[in-house]
Amino acid sequence: MAESALLLRHGFTIAAVLAYSPTTSSSRRARWGAGQLFSTSLNISTSSSSPVVRARHGTGNAGVRVAGAQASASAEGASKCYRVTVLPGDGIGPEIIRVAVDVLRLVGSQEGLDFEFKEMLVGGAAIDAVGSPLPQETLDACRDSDAVLLAAIGGYKWDRNEAHLRPERGLLDLRVGLGVFANLRPATVFSQLVDSSTLKREVADGVDLMVVRELTGGIYFGKPKGFGINEHGERIAFNTEIYSTAEIDRIARVGFETARKRQGKLCSVDKANVLEASQLWRERLTIIGAEEYPDVELSHMYVDNAAMQLIRNPKQFDTIVTNNIFGDILSDEASILTGSIGMLPSASIGQSGPGVFEPVHGSAPDIAGQDKANPLAQVLSVSMLLKYGLGQERAAERVEAAVKTTLDRGFRTGDIMSYGKTLVGCLHMGEEVMRSLEASLPARASLH
Ligand code: IPM
Ligand code: MG
Repeated sequence: MAESALLLRHGFTIAAVLAYSPTTSSSRRARWGAGQLFSTSLNISTSSSSPVVRARHGTGNAGVRVAGAQASASAEGASKCYRVTVLPGDGIGPEIIRVAVDVLRLVGSQEGLDFEFKEMLVGGAAIDAVGSPLPQETLDACRDSDAVLLAAIGGYKWDRNEAHLRPERGLLDLRVGLGVFANLRPATVFSQLVDSSTLKREVADGVDLMVVRELTGGIYFGKPKGFGINEHGERIAFNTEIYSTAEIDRIARVGFETARKRQGKLCSVDKANVLEASQLWRERLTIIGAEEYPDVELSHMYVDNAAMQLIRNPKQFDTIVTNNIFGDILSDEASILTGSIGMLPSASIGQSGPGVFEPVHGSAPDIAGQDKANPLAQVLSVSMLLKYGLGQERAAERVEAAVKTTLDRGFRTGDIMSYGKTLVGCLHMGEEVMRSLEASLPARASLH
């Protein structure tokens, strides 16, 4: 992993989240034992048929850092174990995350990776249960884990709540609480789904871009903010778009490093013709590009133009880096190029500590509990968790390949359905992904 890790300059290392070490079962099990483990709360359909590999660990990415505690635990012969905090959240969350946990467990058993899952409350479900969208125990469990797998939060039920009691607050506090300032949102058009895109085939086919969104700053968190009364006695509301050079520099470096690993093209999106915060953004991107990344082709684009260019000619983009709110908007726009937002995963990562891996889409309360949701964005988030969170690139690739194979085999949920394909529900789609995963290991498949 060390070779492929994104080692950034100035002491910052995104590699911390790409390659930090797994902890041991024995060293942390005491604290984790108190939680509700998914394996006991859900009927994990694969666990009975798949060999559960306990005492060994994949060494495919040999650069995974070894901490002191781990070395001593290894001496005791304890098995290594990745601890994943599972946050089902609201709406379709519990349905899709169940599929994703099944997939993670199966690929783990195939690749010799051991996982311990701990399910915690977040969002509306947490408001209902304990009166807070992000209970302290949830944040503590996330901090104490190797990666966080999140589904989605929100729903009509909580839409009228006060700001601090809205599900969205839980998500924002989770991001800040874990310091995950960089949000990677890939938009890849799967060739199997190109006709589901609202764009013409020739425009959508081959789109493969990455939006790098700043996640813990800007207008989402800037102060002052609030409500007031103006000099005419009218109610007003205001927010502040604010960025420090340190905040810009660290997300810029993630953008450049990401571009370097892709096609070497970085487009920085801002509104520098109007906003001071964007002027500083553009200045810093230009300086860092010239001083540290002369090999990356940097361009700048105003956000209104970028919104238009994404639809007009999306293939001109390789990597986009942008602020929190522009990234929120453009990543939804980019997602639809791919046919359905139900296909898009994301990874939120920080300087150190666990990353958060979640679909770009929301909780879709209108179809919750009906087994209609597309679980593939959540499954692809598992792939990002393996790759960016644990440095397990081979397992990550196998999950992604299984999704593609499943699409090749003609299975579709409602959002990506097209003529002649087989319409399936959420759980069935999950089973087919696992079948594809099983079939991709012929030698092991014979074990079952
Ligand atoms: C997203 C969502 C969130 C955001 C909401 C739910 C707070 O839209 O992750 O894109 O705006 O960041
Ligand atoms: Mg959004």
